[in-house]
Amino acid sequence: MPIAIVFPGSSTGPEDELKARIDQLVRGIPCASVTAWHEGRFGRTGNAHQRQGMMGYFASVYSLLAPAFELVMRPLREQQSGAASGQTLVIGAGTGLDVAPLLDRGITPDLLEPDPTLAAGLRRRYPGLQVWEAAAEDIPAPDERYDTVLATLVLCSVSRPRDVLREVERVLKPGGRFLFTEHVGHEDGHIGRYLQQGLEPVWRPLAGGCRLTRHPACYVDATDLVIDHLEPVRQGLLLPIVQGAFYKAGA
Ligand SMILES: C[S@@+](CC[C@H](N)C(=O)[O-])C[C@H]1O[C@@H](n2cnc3c(N)ncnc32)[C@H](O)[C@@H]1O
Repeated sequence: MPIAIVFPGSSTGPEDELKARIDQLVRGIPCASVTAWHEGRFGRTGNAHQRQGMMGYFASVYSLLAPAFELVMRPLREQQSGAASGQTLVIGAGTGLDVAPLLDRGITPDLLEPDPTLAAGLRRRYPGLQVWEAAAEDIPAPDERYDTVLATLVLCSVSRPRDVLREVERVLKPGGRFLFTEHVGHEDGHIGRYLQQGLEPVWRPLAGGCRLTRHPACYVDATDLVIDHLEPVRQGLLLPIVQGAFYKAGA
């Protein structure tokens, strides 16, 4: 079950418990091997031209497959949107599946999506929303614009996750939160990790650059964002999913 979001200083008991649980989660994550393995195999940023070509193809495939994913994802999106507040940016908005749960809560989000086909689809579907065709490594928004930045199944696909988190930190207001729902890599020694590593070279080009072995917590140290909440919400050998929040201190 998801744990409550607790800000430092708000209470000692739950905060200690939260920290202990996060420590345990983060300790199990093979961040060093994730980085070394990816960079050795694919290079630091990958092949941008090749990636762009794959994204067009992936946009069509993803639009077709999304309804099936939603059996699992819809309740997670609703839960995540329930934690959003104020000015909100959705990065890697895809076909816009996070938009309806936000609009239902009275939040009118800005959307960022680098894939031209998907961005055009978002503009058609939500003519009243700000849609940026841009990558989250370079968000075209001013500093401290947002109370919430939200991502669902995006950090697995971005070229430079550390730069994405730096940009998220830049556009968040002090006290703002980055909410994410991401599939993640298993810890070292887990049978699922062997499966993820074995399939990743085939999976990645077929799935729009998606890596099976990443974990958002491996990149937070590039920023001053603080892990506020990190919770496994779906088990699975190939695609275990976590939900979490990083917050920007200083409110
Ligand atoms: C698996 S899809 C998820 C789409 C959507 N968030 C959802 O939940 O349905 C991954 C999305 O990340 C986008 N993406 C890939 N690289 C990105 C980047 N560097 N910055 C922002 N989004 C990116 C893809 O174009 C795609 O829309």
